[in-house]
Amino acid sequence: MSPTMDSKRLHIGVLTGGGDCPGLNPAIRAVVRRAESGGHHVTGIMDGWAGLANPAATLTRPLDRSEVRGIQTRGGTIIGSSRTNLLKREGGLDAAEASIKSLGLDALVVIGGDDTLSVAAGLAKRGAAVVAIPKTMDNDVWGTEGCLGFDTAANIVTEALDRIQTTTSSHHRVAVVEVMGRDAGWVAAWGGLAGGADAILVPESPVDSAKIDRLVELVTRRRNYATGASVIVVSEGVQLPEALLNLSGDVPRDEFGHPRLDKIAVGDAIAAILEERTGLEVRCTRLGHLQRGGPPSAADRVLGARYGVAAVDALETGRWGVMVALRAGEIVEVPLAEVGGKNRPLDASYLRIFDSLA
Ligand code: F6P
Repeated sequence: MSPTMDSKRLHIGVLTGGGDCPGLNPAIRAVVRRAESGGHHVTGIMDGWAGLANPAATLTRPLDRSEVRGIQTRGGTIIGSSRTNLLKREGGLDAAEASIKSLGLDALVVIGGDDTLSVAAGLAKRGAAVVAIPKTMDNDVWGTEGCLGFDTAANIVTEALDRIQTTTSSHHRVAVVEVMGRDAGWVAAWGGLAGGADAILVPESPVDSAKIDRLVELVTRRRNYATGASVIVVSEGVQLPEALLNLSGDVPRDEFGHPRLDKIAVGDAIAAILEERTGLEVRCTRLGHLQRGGPPSAADRVLGARYGVAAVDALETGRWGVMVALRAGEIVEVPLAEVGGKNRPLDASYLRIFDSLA
């Protein structure tokens, strides 16, 4: 890749890495259309970093306007995704560089969360022309106030809670609803507040025995008025004392070392504790990948369009090694080197809102 690409016709690679989410396809579409308007062309790298990992057999798909026609309505990613950590693989970045060279790519647009972007930062540090777009329904990429996938996920959780509320109140039960959010409680907070949850548990506020006592008191108190029902939203990443979890054996981990949180099943554990302590009927629903599937919301489509255009703008004018980001409503650029290794926790002000509404 050349460091002097102003006014040059670029061959741009685009990839999506990590967990998929709605909003990726609108961003891919915007990258392709903006690139074509500028006289550039785009190749999709299949399955994230896995597609670049083997220079002898890179997985690619040429992308032009006809290939991306109408994809803004589709969830997932037309170029596939994987959780591949090239920083951990012996010679991983060398292999990616060799693939970039053999494909004749001038630049790369990487759409990913903190893990995928840490590999992008590693490549950028070696001189590759990389621009990143933040995505994760968890909404916790550092440096931006908006990640692709979050708005759709929050809407899905809201709709799910609207449905769980009616059946829970009809049966005077307690519902525990486990939502995604490995390190940050954005989805739990937005979905839970919009869906009228009676309590919201997030990773930023570990659950100790005092908090369990308060939950027991809350559902018991609610038993005696109105419908007698309670709805509790639990982020999958909530920290519970190990003794309260029902773990058997080691929890499998991905290449980035993250445990499979569905195997930890914190929602089931909290439901079991509440049932035992209150004698009430408690049902747990894990929304799982429903939160990441289906058509993107209008907000995710628009954010994808804004990020896609901004990413090609940055490459075209030689500003790479950056992530395009949303700050105070504007699209800005943040140095990629600053993004890795951190995340953006839920703002502490939300914890006060939860308490005030309990
Ligand atoms: O990274 C986002 C996320 O949706 C997390 O909230 C969740 O823990 C994880 O992905 C699940 O990943 P996978 O689909 O690979 O099991």
